[in-house]
Amino acid sequence: AVDISQLRAKTGLITLDPGFGNTGACTSAITFIDGEKGILRYRGIPIEQLAENSSFTETAWLLIHGRLPQRQELDLFREQLNRHAPLHEAFKHHFEGFLVDAPPMAMLSAMINTLSCFPRRWNTATPAGPDEEFYEEAARLISKVRTIAAYSYRRSMGLPFIYPDPKLPYVANFLHMMFSMPYEQHMASPEVVEALNLILLLHADHEQNCSTSTVRVVGSSQANLFASCAAAVGALWGPLHGGANVAVLEMLSKIHHGGISADQAIKLAKDPKSGFRLMGFGHRVYKNFDPRAIILKRSADRVLSQLGVNDPLLDVARQLEEKALTDPYFVERKLYPNVDFYSGIIMRAIGIPLNMFTVIFAIGRMPGWIAQWAEQHADPKARIARPRQVYIGNTISDYVPIDDRR
Ligand code: ACO
Repeated sequence: AVDISQLRAKTGLITLDPGFGNTGACTSAITFIDGEKGILRYRGIPIEQLAENSSFTETAWLLIHGRLPQRQELDLFREQLNRHAPLHEAFKHHFEGFLVDAPPMAMLSAMINTLSCFPRRWNTATPAGPDEEFYEEAARLISKVRTIAAYSYRRSMGLPFIYPDPKLPYVANFLHMMFSMPYEQHMASPEVVEALNLILLLHADHEQNCSTSTVRVVGSSQANLFASCAAAVGALWGPLHGGANVAVLEMLSKIHHGGISADQAIKLAKDPKSGFRLMGFGHRVYKNFDPRAIILKRSADRVLSQLGVNDPLLDVARQLEEKALTDPYFVERKLYPNVDFYSGIIMRAIGIPLNMFTVIFAIGRMPGWIAQWAEQHADPKARIARPRQVYIGNTISDYVPIDDRR
């Protein structure tokens, strides 16, 4: 058998895998994906069953603990989520330091990092596995990220903060803190709560995607849970990852307001020189369909008809979807609508402002980030992440004094 480490030491052999398309960086028992068959399972349970029967909070518990909770365990988790919802008053001053209209994603990352300044115990997961104190920290983070998200929005609008209401469940409480329910009752209608709950649940984990890998890379240096998740928010922000739900809506708006037809948009997306991609289409792993997108498409149809939404951007979305699904370019490359395509549409339909789309993705992904961080810390084989490179620059050049440089 070939000893790879010895071979590498002797020859400098390195595998080059840009974007880590075929490199496994860890073992994991959290989320199972079969991209060819369009299968997604959390702890073995099909995403379709969870979407049908579970809630975001129960699914969060499942991801972190590795099994479905007993009733009293779920009750305790809900009690923890309520108890941890308020932010320390010092946070208000921190928020006030941001300019009004600062992007909520920037505030979210900063504030999650700030949570590490109020430590109970920082690195609570040990090789012996997570303990009760870690689970309490997990509940604290899942609860507080929702309050931070809502406050980020209020700050970005120059509006006063609204305290959490302990009587409200997770999603309704978030909508209450964002929109102040007494004034905007429609925001807490059962259809809206249900749709948002489903979006969060479907985003709760997705194995080693860009932001989750960030959690593991940062966590591998034994940085604390909050610092690791704050870094993940940065990774999520980009338009090729979580920011795609914003990019979808911006694209639909550009097409609609620019008088571009769906056919023209498809033509542009197929031209590599145009620099234009159909946002919300394609996926690194799913090569037939994204099972989350199928569930969300049904939800989008339901929500739009229940709320009687009539929106020209949503018509553009339907036309693009219809045309791309039969166009040979998209069919050959296996480019199908992904979860961000429909989540953007639903969030727009239920009145979530654009600058909160990716923030909501982050709230949803938090249980996955936490579960992955804990799994990594409990893995005795885990090592600090330190990829190699294939160097293509000059191997040696002489230093030239500044007056001699040409
Ligand atoms: N529109 C047009 N062409 C596309 C698109 C698209 N959305 N996505 C991929 N392609 C083309 C590429 O140009 C490439 O064509 P080529 O083979 O002729 O060169 C081929 O399909 C393969 O694309 P890659 O970029 O190599 O695929 P990769 O796996 O690296 O990227 C990604 C996946 C980032 C999701 C890509 O499909 C994309 O940019 N999609 C739009 C952004 C988006 O929706 N991101 C959300 C992803 S899901 C999530 O984060 C929750």
